[in-house]
Amino acid sequence: MKTDLPQSFRRLEYRSPNYTFGQVELDIALDPARTIVKSRLEVLPGKSHEPSAPLILQGQELEFVSLRINGEAHRHFELTPETLSIHSLPNDGKDPFVVEIICICVPEKNTSLMGLYVSNGNFFTQCEAEGFRKITYFLDRPDVMAKFRVTLRAREAEYPVLLANGNLLTTEKLPNGWHSAIWEDPFPKPSYLFALVAGKLECIEETITTSSGARKLLQIWVEPHDLKKTRHAMDSLIASIHWDEKRYGLELDLERFMIVAVSDFNMGAMENKGLNIFNTKYVLAQPETATDVDFANIESVVAHEYFHNWTGNRVTCQDWFQLSLKEGLTVFRDQEFSADQMGSESGRAVKRIEDVRTLRQLQFPEDAGPMAHPIRPDEYQEINNFYTVTVYEKGAEVVRMYQTLLGVNGFRKGMDLYFKRHDGQAVTCDNFLAAMADANERDFSQFKNWYSQAGTPRVKVEERYDAAQKQYHLTLSQSCATSPGQPEKKPFHIPLKVRLLTTANDHVEQLLELKETKQSWTFDNINELPVLSINRHFSAPINLDFAQSEVDLLRLFSNDDDAFNRWESGQKLAMQMILENRLPDVQLINAYRNLLMDPKLDSAFKELALTLPAETYLYEQCACVDPEQIYSSRRAFRRALASGLRLEWAALYQQMQTPDGFKSDAISAGKRALKNLALSMLLEADAPIWSAMAVNQYQNADNMTDRYAALAGLVIHGVKAAKECLDDFYQRFADDPLVVDKWFALQSSRPPVDGAEPTLTDVYRLREHEAFKMNNPNRVRSVIHAFCMANPASFHQADGSGYAFWAEAVLALDPINPQVAARLARALDRWRLFSQPYQGKMHAYLEEVAACKTLSADVREVVSKALGN
Ligand code: TRP
Ligand code: ZN
Repeated sequence: MKTDLPQSFRRLEYRSPNYTFGQVELDIALDPARTIVKSRLEVLPGKSHEPSAPLILQGQELEFVSLRINGEAHRHFELTPETLSIHSLPNDGKDPFVVEIICICVPEKNTSLMGLYVSNGNFFTQCEAEGFRKITYFLDRPDVMAKFRVTLRAREAEYPVLLANGNLLTTEKLPNGWHSAIWEDPFPKPSYLFALVAGKLECIEETITTSSGARKLLQIWVEPHDLKKTRHAMDSLIASIHWDEKRYGLELDLERFMIVAVSDFNMGAMENKGLNIFNTKYVLAQPETATDVDFANIESVVAHEYFHNWTGNRVTCQDWFQLSLKEGLTVFRDQEFSADQMGSESGRAVKRIEDVRTLRQLQFPEDAGPMAHPIRPDEYQEINNFYTVTVYEKGAEVVRMYQTLLGVNGFRKGMDLYFKRHDGQAVTCDNFLAAMADANERDFSQFKNWYSQAGTPRVKVEERYDAAQKQYHLTLSQSCATSPGQPEKKPFHIPLKVRLLTTANDHVEQLLELKETKQSWTFDNINELPVLSINRHFSAPINLDFAQSEVDLLRLFSNDDDAFNRWESGQKLAMQMILENRLPDVQLINAYRNLLMDPKLDSAFKELALTLPAETYLYEQCACVDPEQIYSSRRAFRRALASGLRLEWAALYQQMQTPDGFKSDAISAGKRALKNLALSMLLEADAPIWSAMAVNQYQNADNMTDRYAALAGLVIHGVKAAKECLDDFYQRFADDPLVVDKWFALQSSRPPVDGAEPTLTDVYRLREHEAFKMNNPNRVRSVIHAFCMANPASFHQADGSGYAFWAEAVLALDPINPQVAARLARALDRWRLFSQPYQGKMHAYLEEVAACKTLSADVREVVSKALGN
């Protein structure tokens, strides 16, 4: 029998807090070995206060020093490893009172990177979701919103810069070489949005004028040697600020907005009020060291965190089950921003395709696996495990469906009402839905199922054309496989954009709302058998079950006016053929050729259209995955595309050159993407012939996109010169950690190469490399996660060697950083989908990890759910 069952938190057990805070004052004396935190909390009874209820504060890994209430020492309290419970409150806690606490934490020992920690000698914090309790005892929950005033103290020589949320009030020199700064945030906020930064940092600054005519100071803080890499982030921030004013009427509400870059960070970035903290990966960029993809990611992450200032900070979450309220909405907003930045309709389609690829590659598997959860989960053991592609990316799809159903203007009305009702509050996903419904006088009760049910819905398409009546009949039926804890599902409200393509081109796009389990539509005056274009622009996050003929798919691939669906039908054709172990036939090769040579199409679109569905998405189409079979069938298909279009690839490689100096715009980036696909295809078709050209590109590139693409081509295709170029790359960039990460990741994600040693052998070697560091998440991800989660063909070996590596890595990482370990732990989520011997071996290694007695709650939850416990 199990003795210590892991603790579960349930959404329906939410209770509003017994106490809340008014003003919060913190005085923090920073010392890596012993930081002293003094807090002064104005405590008020909560809305549903029960008299004489104790005040229970959360605190973790803190050394308690003292407690005073209303200025007097207070002895009625209890400490546990997680809480400080205070009893015998003045007047049973019915009136406001003041609590003063002194405690100590140890930033230099903090490898979890939650709470207060040290990175490259500087101090940083990460408080979302529950990190603030590692800094001081507090009501560490998002529905307790307070005003913060923060005094920071530190030795001036080592920590000349002292930053916190809001506005800088004063700075002061103190005895013994110390100094202090006082910061005040005028907006009430939950503790998860608290931040401080201290150390040797420098910034670039800009002053801008916002829509109301106010002047605002923008700063980006980095280590001094990185200052030259901050321009793109600043431009992205300015563009984001303007976009949010224009599209949503939302203005920056602080006099000062700061971004700080840190090289040790668990995730991408964090939206702390007025003081965003970013992984360096999403700030620093120059053409010589960052790829076009890096530039685009920086733009979208800067926008994402900035947009949180309204969707997340001004209106925040009542509890962590509502996480998608801020994350789904903010991802949707950053996706729309990036699409608008592309500048053209086909550019928008490119952005949409990229987002849908991510959804299918990462979220669809999650939604079909043991960790499947609705975008608003009902239960969790460790909230850190629920910062998922479901909450973020599927959450964004759900928000997008409101816009599809209501139109851009109707959606804006809903947003306006949401802010009118809830500015300054901590609310739920129901409040968001109600604002959308009420502002547009719509009934969205069935739409709620998107929030409560996990799993990707499947929509079956049946069509019939009646030539005599000139009628087209369409029948759609929906279903959704079971998910953990959800044996049965109610029908979803699914918006489907459809168009009937005819030679007369006489039918316009329509929005169908599928609400029943099965529903039919009749289209009149259809003069010929049409080709159905459905789920255009990916209007709903579903799987289609539609036996469309290859002739029709080819027609859509060549002619659909919806660029997304054009791409989609090509993917479907390729997918079917790969799964049936077929090679592209003449018609398909011709269609690809025509698309490649069409001068009206974007290069970026062509590159996406010629990129095959990812292996992990192909896995999801199988009842029983043979990873080797899928890899070789996909590779053979690719090789056929490469050799069938040899001449075109060679021509494109020349045509897509961008000779007059590096430009970072979308058109130039699209050309580079297509040129580098051409290079990779030429190497695929005939590596010995083209390797010299690849080496030449590697050596002479004036930007990282081209240099890295050439190097990747050499490595992936097992060209002899690869070794020399890899060594050269390391030498050139050894003092740039983000580029060294690329060097590691490229080698760890190399697919199997005939005649070369297995990638895993390299990975073991990389783990011993002088530059490998187990406590830097970016480095760990570039070696370990890259191998276990982004290199399926090398990871899934019949001898189980990949899984043995995985188990050892999870167990080694867990005591250092449970969040990063738990991410890695998910690499075996889909074990039940695999054939033998893979499945049995995965199961055995999951059991091995689960047997460890000292697992963190994070990893424990992932492996126990994977095993079905
Ligand atoms: N709120 C952040 C974002 O999506 C996510 C985040 C950053 C985070 N760092 C974290 C979540 C650490 C949990 C733990 O913008
Ligand atoms: Zn976010």
